[in-house]
Amino acid sequence: MIAFNFNSVASVLVEDGATENLGSTLRARFGCERPFVISDAGLVTLGIVGKATKALDDAELSHALFDGVEADPSEAVVLTATEAAIAHQADLVVGFGGGSSMDVAKLVAVLARGEQGLADIYGVDQIRGGRLPLVQVPTTAGTGSEVTPISIITTGETTKMGVVDPTLLADMAILDATLTTGLPAHITAATGIDAMVHAIEAYTSKIKKNPISDGLAKQALLMLGSNIVLACNDGKNLDARRAMLVGAMLAGQAFANAPVAAVHALAYPLGGHFHIPHGLSNSLVLPHVLKFNEPAAAHEYAELAALMGQERSAPAFFRWVDQVAEETGVVRRLRDMDISHNDLPMLAEDAMKQTRLLVNNPREVTLDDARAIYEAAW
Ligand SMILES: NC(=O)c1ccc[n+]([C@@H]2O[C@H](COP(=O)([O-])OP(=O)(O)OC[C@H]3O[C@@H](n4cnc5c(N)ncnc54)[C@H](O)[C@@H]3O)[C@@H](O)[C@H]2O)c1
Ligand SMILES: [Fe+2]
Repeated sequence: MIAFNFNSVASVLVEDGATENLGSTLRARFGCERPFVISDAGLVTLGIVGKATKALDDAELSHALFDGVEADPSEAVVLTATEAAIAHQADLVVGFGGGSSMDVAKLVAVLARGEQGLADIYGVDQIRGGRLPLVQVPTTAGTGSEVTPISIITTGETTKMGVVDPTLLADMAILDATLTTGLPAHITAATGIDAMVHAIEAYTSKIKKNPISDGLAKQALLMLGSNIVLACNDGKNLDARRAMLVGAMLAGQAFANAPVAAVHALAYPLGGHFHIPHGLSNSLVLPHVLKFNEPAAAHEYAELAALMGQERSAPAFFRWVDQVAEETGVVRRLRDMDISHNDLPMLAEDAMKQTRLLVNNPREVTLDDARAIYEAAW
């Protein structure tokens, strides 16, 4: 690290029950009149979105809701949501849900201005002009999307593309742990491990590792690692839920500036080909990528082991990661996800296309390495 750049969301509100005041908060901070809420149908059925729309009613705001987001959102979803936001004459966008809803909200906030199409903004730093005011309210403790400048969209049967641009950093993130108490244990586990991976990969990020991200990553891992099993075992434990939400946000701030690497690169093909949720994909390859990285990152892994109260060594860190995964009950092997051994070479070839991520890995990954890692994970 010689010189570095650090960007994040300017305003983060952490408050249990903050959703009840969402309308008055938006009015006071942004002076908006026509907020547009983006979420998914599952969260509507659970009554969670109703808490937000009631608060907007209470503040007499003319709001509209798009609840058509699906996990790993497609381009079609982004375009439909954008049309609805334009039709509503939205003056602010609220992303309300998991990473999928927040990622769609980011793009809608840009595209609703009508200056660029989706195809124009894929890649890094392609957004010209601004966006509508954007507020993110996560309901999973995982992606950290509420504080990242990244949106991941499914573009084909098996492919995803990213929009990465500082314009996608929201104006405000609101962390209300009461929204997450009903998150099922298996989603809590997978999304929580995703957040832990963000912290771990930020801490060993090859090119952009920096002291601010390091501090955030450590605090994130401490909070996530100390609370994930509690949150899985007792979803109503509000202290554990709040710690998970804050930890995931801190990990998001870390990896937004010190990007993730091979765990994510090898996880993406699992989502693409087998529709395995993002967090679970990460947790399936995590232990094997860590062991592969040991020659290049043993020192950092030893530091993280000590942080978590373990012996200061890389193997102790690997044991701790395994133990956490075991205790959360997350699926551990590719073969248990209906993936056949014959699929492994194809997965490895796909992973090698994730050059944007692989450049950040502490150790260079070749095609043979990727195959061997999948083999170990199978
Ligand atoms: N932008 C980023 O920086 C970034 C980083 C990592 C991943 N991602 C993307 O985020 C997406 C994954 O997001 P995710 O893991 O948060 O899951 P998600 O948003 O896809 O939601 C998963 C499921 O959990 C349900 N759910 C969400 N909150 C709930 C709650 N409080 N109670 C009960 N059920 C709830 C949803 O209805 C949905 O069925 C993927 O598209 C991935 O590519 C983005
Ligand atoms: Fe992730």
